[in-house]
This record gives sequence, structure tokens and C-alpha cells, in this order.
Amino acid sequence: MGIFSGKEVVLGVTGGIAAYKACEIVRELRKDSANVHVVLTRSGSQFITPLTLQTLSKNPVATDLFDLISESEIGHISLAQRAHLLLIAPATANIIGKVRNGIADDMLSTVVMATTAPVLFAPAMNTQMYASAAVQDNMAVLRSRGYHFVEPDEGELACGTVGPGRLADVDKILEMARIVLSEKPLSGKKVIVSAGPTAEALDPVRFFSNRSSGKMGYAMARAARRMGAQVTLVSGPGAIPAPHFMDTIRVRTADEMFSAVSRASADADVVVMCAAVADFKAKKAAPAKIKKDGFDYRLELSPTVDILETLGKKKGKRILVGFAAETDDLTTNAREKMRRKNLDAIVANDVSRADIGFESDDNEVRIFFPDGEIRELPLATKEGIAVGVWLALNGKLFRR
Ligand code: CTP
Repeated sequence: MGIFSGKEVVLGVTGGIAAYKACEIVRELRKDSANVHVVLTRSGSQFITPLTLQTLSKNPVATDLFDLISESEIGHISLAQRAHLLLIAPATANIIGKVRNGIADDMLSTVVMATTAPVLFAPAMNTQMYASAAVQDNMAVLRSRGYHFVEPDEGELACGTVGPGRLADVDKILEMARIVLSEKPLSGKKVIVSAGPTAEALDPVRFFSNRSSGKMGYAMARAARRMGAQVTLVSGPGAIPAPHFMDTIRVRTADEMFSAVSRASADADVVVMCAAVADFKAKKAAPAKIKKDGFDYRLELSPTVDILETLGKKKGKRILVGFAAETDDLTTNAREKMRRKNLDAIVANDVSRADIGFESDDNEVRIFFPDGEIRELPLATKEGIAVGVWLALNGKLFRR
């Protein structure tokens, strides 16, 4: 179950060229099981029709506060009350100015004033308008009143100028909406998460690696961010794009991951090593491509640095959490690793099963703690497991 599941989202669409992107926002919200009610301003309807948004949202579109049919069918107070989130995308300078000044002269500005739900603006406008003292000042005041913003992206705008002002990417807007909607039990925590495999060079074209996709680690990082933590993700090579609203440090080798994790974790509260760090590397990587002819098919290997074990020796106040992917003797192996690496918890999963682990979108894990307690998280998406792991860690470790 995603964060939008069962949520009532009111989407305000105002008059800018990016209004057409509201269609994609409606579709993505519905795909994640939100119930979407669109409020389209008069100028918004110059760019996109109510019929389009109604067809996509499968709900009537509210347009004009003073339209009797619209008001009796939808009602600005009922919309304001039923909303879990009010998202305004695109948000023009005009709506931002109106909300800051307490003007409620149409359906959308009235709903904003009448709601107690969180309000998230996704501004989109010309670069100079965005940089203007009026807009910047209005945004600062609204932020101080608890309104949320997802900054526009930089790029070429419809008016031809280049700079900040383009509506943020839809997935970025939706991620900020998830952050706004989530409870924040990890607020104030600094979290480091590692993810993915590492790759150890044999020569300039070949390397050792493993089957880790990084999905579980990325899900852990995103979940921590949504739950209010400040997150740094240290990622080995992989195809997953960098998550929004956190620092992502890309590395290749175990040595690089060790440096990045050590540096980032100096003042961290928690380090979660989800990465499948390669255990071996070539003793000496060949400087040029190894040729078949004359190669004796023997390679000398040496162990890589054990990142967690090293951190565990100088732990300080940091909480250290490991992941263990096992094919046999899950409990014995996981407990032995937790002890050897001086961990506060280890999350273990059985990668011999085809339905969970590695490239799969699902997982099922057991969390072991040094006092003998075990928490079982039944089969769920990796996103769901990540939330469960953080809640378990929070309940057990962060309150002591
Ligand atoms: N780990 C690490 N540095 C390594 C190897 C592993 O920090 N060089 C971390 C992993 O990120 C994980 C935990 O240690 O959180 C357990 O990893 P795993 O590969 O299961 O354990 P190993 O100690 O490598 O033992 P083995 O491969 O023999 O099972």
C-alpha cells in the first residue's frame, strides 16, 4: 500500500503553460490509488479543459465558486474538509500572491483558505517573475506559515528564457507530496544508507560484481527521507536514478564506498549498510586489457575492506545496521555477523527464494537484535519492507 492509497488529494491547476502537466499528475496520483478532485482556475481553463481533467480524475472538476451547479455538486467547504493534501501544480505567481495576502475570490483560493490539510505549491513561471522580490517574499512568508513548496527546475522555459521557473518533474512533485503526507518519526536524524553492488576491476574492461539491484537500499533511503530524516545515499553502480531530496554519492569499488560512508557518517545517527559489498578484489588490477593468448587463467585475489566491521570497531554513538542476504542457515549466519561487526541490528533475507531478494520488487525479512529479539516482516513490496524496518528500528533503538 502506497502513501497515496485511500487519500483524498485536491489538485489545484492554475493558468500557466505547464497546466497540461496536470494530466500526468492526475494519472500518477490515481495509479497510486489516490482519489483526486481537480479545482481548475478560470485562467487554468484557458490552457486545459475541465473535460480532460474530469475524464482522467473520474471526479467532477470544480471551476467557479460562483457557479451554482459546481458549488452545489462539489462545495468548496466539503472539498477543503475532505482533503488530506492540497497540491497546486502548476502554481502561478498570482495564486501564491493571493494565498499570502488572504485573498479568496475564486474556488481554489477559497479552498486553500478553508482547509486544514497541508498545502504544497509547485510554482511554474517565467524566470524573472520567479526571481522577483514579490514572489520570493510571498514564498518566504508562506513557508513560515507552514506551506510547502517544491522548487521549479531550471531549463528552457516556454517563453524562451533559460533559468529556474519550469515546473518540477512530475515524479519530484509526487515525491514531495509523499514527504508532506508522511508521519515524521525520524525527524532530526541523520541517516546514511548504502545500496547496490560494488564493482572491482580486473582490468580496464572487466570487473567482479554481484546481483544486487540496489532496490532495497534505495527503498530504505526514500523511506527514511519521507519519515523526516536527513539522508545521504551511497550507491554502487546500478540503473536506478538518484532519489529526490537527498544527497546521493555514486561509487564503484568497496574502497570508494568505504571512504564515502566513513566521511558521510562522521556525525550520523544511523548507518544502514544495504550494499552488497564485493568480498574480493584482484590483488593487482591489470593496467591493460587481459588477452586470452598467454593468460594462465589464474587470478590472485585479496579481500576488500569490511566497511561495517571497521565502523563497528569505532562506533561512538552511531547506530549500525547490517543487511544479510543468506542462502542457508539464515538465523545462525545473521547473528554471527551482527556479533562480529558489533551491530545494533541486522536485517536478514533468504535470497535462495525466487520471489524475494535481488532483482525482485518484493522482500520478506527477519530483523535480529543483540538482545535476542526477532521481528518478522512478512512478504511485502521493498517500499513496504523499508517502512517496516525503520519503524522497528525506531521503536527499538532510537528511543533509548
Ligand atoms: N559489508 C560491509 N563490507 C564488506 C562486506 C559486507 O560493510 N566488505 C556489510 C554489508 O553491507 C551488510 C553486512 O556487512 O550490511 C553483511 O554482508 P554480507 O555480505 O552478508 O556479509 P559478509 O561479512 O560479507 O559475509 P559472507 O559474504 O561471508 O556471507
